[in-house]
Amino acid sequence: MIIVQLTDLHVRPYGRAAYRTAETNMLTERALWAVRNLAFTPDAIVISGDLTNNGLASEYAVLSDMLSRIIKVPVYVLPGNHDHRETMRSSLGHLPGVTSDPYFIQYAVDHHDVRLVMLDTVIPGSGAGELCEKRLAWLDATLSAEPNKPTLVVMHHPPFACGIRHMDHISLQNPSEFISIIAKHSQVKRILCGHHHRPINAAVAHTICSIAPSVAHQVEFVLGDEPGMWKLEPPAFEVFVSLGDDAIVGHTIYVENYPGPYPFFADPVEDEVGRL
Ligand SMILES: [Fe+2]
Ligand SMILES: [Fe+2]
Repeated sequence: MIIVQLTDLHVRPYGRAAYRTAETNMLTERALWAVRNLAFTPDAIVISGDLTNNGLASEYAVLSDMLSRIIKVPVYVLPGNHDHRETMRSSLGHLPGVTSDPYFIQYAVDHHDVRLVMLDTVIPGSGAGELCEKRLAWLDATLSAEPNKPTLVVMHHPPFACGIRHMDHISLQNPSEFISIIAKHSQVKRILCGHHHRPINAAVAHTICSIAPSVAHQVEFVLGDEPGMWKLEPPAFEVFVSLGDDAIVGHTIYVENYPGPYPFFADPVEDEVGRL
């Protein structure tokens, strides 16, 4: 099974940039075409939140149009702190799972070889995330229902600190409760997050937790209390490949199409001054 993870699209209304500079609609469209043009067809795409910049119906309409034009495989979405749960529910209710929970946008996807548990970490009106008692109970019950199937947990807010302090302040606020549940479920093979707009990974319980880079703008790499800034570093997405024996490996793929591929071959032998 092959699963693509896209994150932090920050789509804007038609014709508008994010923060007046980041052309997130163009960047999202470009990333979707990069996925469509991969040499293989993924089984599913997960989008781990911040689908839009301001949670507007006009932003979800732009995204919905892009997805329906470009993507031909199932798409599973989650809200991030930039989304608006109710507007997302009404605008993207045609996507699987979006309206299945009465309170949150969270659901399990059971019909692939790898199970997907899509977990809503949003606190309305806050940049930070949390898992309240209801969501923690849902996670534990959902994981308990399928203890033997390799599972990916997908969520927006990372459950670990990364050293970029302004992002750590708005990560998952109660990671220890989350981690204690994950630790009980050995079938969780990976935890996929967004939110930090950088490729970052850490061990969480028995498993690997990775943050995917944004398909749009990236957060500047600064350790400590520097103010939060963004940069147009190369956008990328993740491809998770199930190799059997429960192994699921992650590959980071750049959206940009670079020169190549070129063949490897034995270079002609030169002397010390470069003469053939
Ligand atoms: Fe974001
Ligand atoms: Fe976010």
